[in-house]
Amino acid sequence: MTQPEAPGGEYPELHTIIEPFRTRSVEPIPFSTPQERAAWLEAAGHNPFLLRADQVTIDLLTDSGTGAMSSHQWAAMIRSDESYAGASSFYKFEAAVKDIFGFKHVIPTHQGRAAERILFSIGVQPGQVVPSNTHFDTTRANIEFAKGEARDLVIAEGRQPQTIHPFKGNMDLDALRRTIAEAGVENIPFVMITITNNSGGGQPVSMANIRAVSEIAHEHGLPFIIDACRFAENSWFIKTREEGYADTSTLDIAREIFSYADGCTMSAKKDGMANIGGFLCLNDDAMALNARNLLILTEGFPTYGGLAGYDMEAIAVGLYEALNENYLRYRIRTITYLAEKLAAAGVPMVQPPGGHAVYIDARAMLPHIPDSQYPGWSLANALYVVGGVRAVEIGSVMFGRQPDGSERPAPMDLVRMAFPRRVYMQSHVDYLAEVILAIHARRETVRGHRILWEPPFLRHFSVQMQPV
Ligand code: F0G
Repeated sequence: MTQPEAPGGEYPELHTIIEPFRTRSVEPIPFSTPQERAAWLEAAGHNPFLLRADQVTIDLLTDSGTGAMSSHQWAAMIRSDESYAGASSFYKFEAAVKDIFGFKHVIPTHQGRAAERILFSIGVQPGQVVPSNTHFDTTRANIEFAKGEARDLVIAEGRQPQTIHPFKGNMDLDALRRTIAEAGVENIPFVMITITNNSGGGQPVSMANIRAVSEIAHEHGLPFIIDACRFAENSWFIKTREEGYADTSTLDIAREIFSYADGCTMSAKKDGMANIGGFLCLNDDAMALNARNLLILTEGFPTYGGLAGYDMEAIAVGLYEALNENYLRYRIRTITYLAEKLAAAGVPMVQPPGGHAVYIDARAMLPHIPDSQYPGWSLANALYVVGGVRAVEIGSVMFGRQPDGSERPAPMDLVRMAFPRRVYMQSHVDYLAEVILAIHARRETVRGHRILWEPPFLRHFSVQMQPV
C-alpha cells in the first residue's frame, strides 16, 4: 500500500507524513552536559571524528552504515550461507544487483572505497584525468593515490549554496566536452558521475543529464561509471522533479539510470540499507577479470569479496527497501522538514535540501570566521558542545589541501548533518532544529580553529585542531 501524498484522502487535515515503520528493538541515547562535552571534545583534539560514539546524543556524522535494518533483513541474515565459494547468499545478492543495476559483472567489496580502489588501480594511469560532477573525498583520494587527477565539473548552480535548481548535481556538459578535448581522449580512462552529489550537498542529477553525460562519454569511446551510493534517493528526486517520471516506479527509474552506464561503484552502507558492504559492477569482461584478480589479492574470493554471507543477504533485501516509495517519501520529507525550520529562522543552507542531509552554509552563517580558520569545522564543534549533535565539516579541512601540499579554500564551507536511515524520529529532528537555532541566535560567539597536526591523506579523519 502506498501512503498517498495527502494521507487523509477526503480529510485534507490529515497531512502528516509518518515514519513508515514501528519500533520493536530500541537503542538508548546517551545524554551529557555541555561542560562534559567541551572536555571530551578537547581530549579528542577538537575533532568530532575522534569522539567516542557514547559521548554523542544525536549522531549525524554520516548516513553510511548507520541505518536501522528491517525485520526482513534480519530474517534473511539468519538464513545466510557462509560457504567460502559459491554461497547461495552471493547468488541472491548478485540477482538483486543485476535486477536493479543491470550490469553483467557484480563484484562484492567490503565497502564503497574498496570498489573505487580496485577500479582506479586497474583503470587509471598516472596523469590521467577522471571527470565527475563532484568526486567524494574517498573517490578523489583513491584517484590521486593512483596518480590520476580527479576533476569536478558540476554545473555553476551546484557551487552556489543559495541558488535554487531542481538538479544541482548535474554535470556541466560543455565543461565535460572541453575537458575531453583539452586532456585528450587517451588521457581519460572513463567519465564518472556521483548520484546524489554528496560533496555538493546531496544534490540529485537529472535523468536528462545522466543520459547526456553517457552520450558524450560514448561518442568518445569512453566508459561511463556511476558512483551509485544514493541511487534510490536520486531516483525519488527524478520521480518528483523531472518531467515525465511521475508515474514511473523508482525501481524502473533506477533501471533506466544504470542502463546508460558501463559500470558502477557502490557503497551498500547508504542505499543498500546495510551496515557494511559494497560492490563494483562492470559490463566489460576484460576489466572485470582484472578487477576480480585484484579482489582476490586484497578483499577475498569473488563470491564474497570481504563480506560475510549475511552481509550480502542484508544488501539483497535492503536495495529494494531503499527503493520503496513510502520510505523515500518519509526519508526526503524528514530532510525537508528540518530545512524548512532552519530556513524560517534565516539559517543559510544549501537550497533546496538534498536527499540524505541538510548542509548549513557555515561561510555565510559565520562571516566573522575567515576561511583560513575553518568556519564549517568551527560550527560542527559548536553543534557538539551546545547540543551533543555530531555533524561533519565538508569544507576546507576536508578539501582545502592541494596535492602539492598548498592550501586553497574549498568552493563551499559546509556542515553536513546526515541522517542515518530509519533511525531518528520527528522529536529528534525538532530538538536538532532547536540546537541549530540557539547557535544561530548567538553565532558571533563561535570561534575559529587552526590546525595543530595533520596526516598525509584524508586529513579530516584524524586532524588535531585548536580553537583560536
Ligand atoms: N562515494 C560517495 C558519494 C560516498 O558518499 C561515499 C561514502 C563513498 C563513495 C565511499 O563509500 O564509505 O563505503 O567506502 N560516504 C560516507 C559519507 C563516508 O559519510 O558520506 P564507503
